[in-house]
Amino acid sequence: MKRIKAIYPGSFDPPTNGHLDLIERGSKIFDELVVAILRNPEKDPLFSVADRRKMLESMTSSFENVSVDTFDGLTVDYALRVGAQAILRGIRAISDYEYELQMALMNRKLQPALETVFMMPAEKYSYLSSRLVREVAQLGGSIERLVPDLVEQKLREKIDVAHKFTNGKPHAGKAPSEAKSRFRKKRL
Ligand code: PNS
Repeated sequence: MKRIKAIYPGSFDPPTNGHLDLIERGSKIFDELVVAILRNPEKDPLFSVADRRKMLESMTSSFENVSVDTFDGLTVDYALRVGAQAILRGIRAISDYEYELQMALMNRKLQPALETVFMMPAEKYSYLSSRLVREVAQLGGSIERLVPDLVEQKLREKIDVAHKFTNGKPHAGKAPSEAKSRFRKKRL
């Protein structure tokens, strides 16, 4: 029988419960699912690729057919490299549709053999995005139940480090340089 392998590409900065919901759904319809984190040096991510990978690995450890990887370059090239036949993407609301359709059609133009499969996360996550999670967490709002506990803890750690720097207090540990520069910029 033919086995279907799919990739689920994204930034995952940070991964949310919406991503996890989609991974769970994808793991049920595909034989194999690779969560693929884009290594994109042009973006200014909150979490390093290594941190995001660790978080996703921990979040998906109970799914036997799910693995986590990183890639750069074109998604379609990566998909072919790992022998995937499908690209999984989530659509939360109509507002996602236009961008996702554009990407899916461009990917089809680049690689007609690959199919994009859209799935909807649970309604309770329909307003959830990594960007909003970052913003709410940085401004002190609650992100409970929006991200896994591990991600919440990592976000809190980043924000604590940032506060220590922006308050001008001496900091005991050595802060990750990325957190330092990012939060200084944001003046949190
Ligand atoms: O989580 P995101 O940021 O919405 O994911 C976007 C992603 C990574 C899927 C998209 O930017 C992408 O595929 N980038 C890789 C480069 C590429 O293939 N570009 C052409 C897409 S049509």
